[in-house]
Amino acid sequence: MEDLADQVIMAELDSNVAAVWKVVLSDASTNLVKRIRRFEISRDAVIGELCKEPQNEIDVAFQTILRNRVQRGGILAPGASLMKNGENNVGVASRWYPETLAKRIAAINAARKKIEFLHKDAFDVIPKYLRDETAAFFVDPPYTAGGKAAGKRLYLHSWIDHDSLFDLLENAAGEVMLTYDDAKEVRDLARSHGFFTKPIAMKSTHHARVFELAITNRRFAAPSADESLRLLNQPPRYRAKRKSHSRKGKK
Ligand SMILES: C[S@@+](CC[C@H](N)C(=O)[O-])C[C@H]1O[C@@H](n2cnc3c(N)ncnc32)[C@H](O)[C@@H]1O
Repeated sequence: MEDLADQVIMAELDSNVAAVWKVVLSDASTNLVKRIRRFEISRDAVIGELCKEPQNEIDVAFQTILRNRVQRGGILAPGASLMKNGENNVGVASRWYPETLAKRIAAINAARKKIEFLHKDAFDVIPKYLRDETAAFFVDPPYTAGGKAAGKRLYLHSWIDHDSLFDLLENAAGEVMLTYDDAKEVRDLARSHGFFTKPIAMKSTHHARVFELAITNRRFAAPSADESLRLLNQPPRYRAKRKSHSRKGKK
């Protein structure tokens, strides 16, 4: 969206999340936007919608977005419950912003020519680009390293072999960044594979200021905690195409 790459390849294993990306990047995105705008939110309407058997990929995408907005903490894993009071005590409606969702979907769809989505295991996708110096990797795995429970509750596909992931990415010719929760086991894992770590500020689903760990294979100057919070509070910038391509990677 900020024109930092000419081509973006994304991989995700979860079939519900995959349906969202597939629909958002297709002509069907306008149908999804219509569904989002038309939906009159109430606890009964949410339960009615989520009980329906999805008939096609648009249904799956809509239900997944809805679940992400109305379930506690945005958790999509099976068994997650609906919010009771939500933000400002307005229950399930408290995080349902149809116009914001519509704008974001339209903005992503407008950039679709350079985005390729793969409903695949990242372990099968990453190796294809390891020797490519112009390929940069951003990896945001479930936070389950060191036996952490958080990631297990959040995702259906929460188990990954973190050691193998670092083994793989250690061999990348291009730049690598991973994000993890800031835990001793994660720092040890990163260090033992020759990676650098920096805590960066982020906002949790409860708007609390928390830190996660950025792990890179190159040294980089992380913004200060105050600066990263200032950046977080800015609306997303969708920059016009830059004229100079000299420093851009291919992927
Ligand atoms: C921390 S979340 C990433 C969230 C994403 N960056 C976002 O902002 O929406 C981790 C994701 O990794 C996915 N995942 C787990 N194992 C995977 C694998 N082997 N290949 C691809 N995706 C995987 C999970 O389904 C989950 O959606």
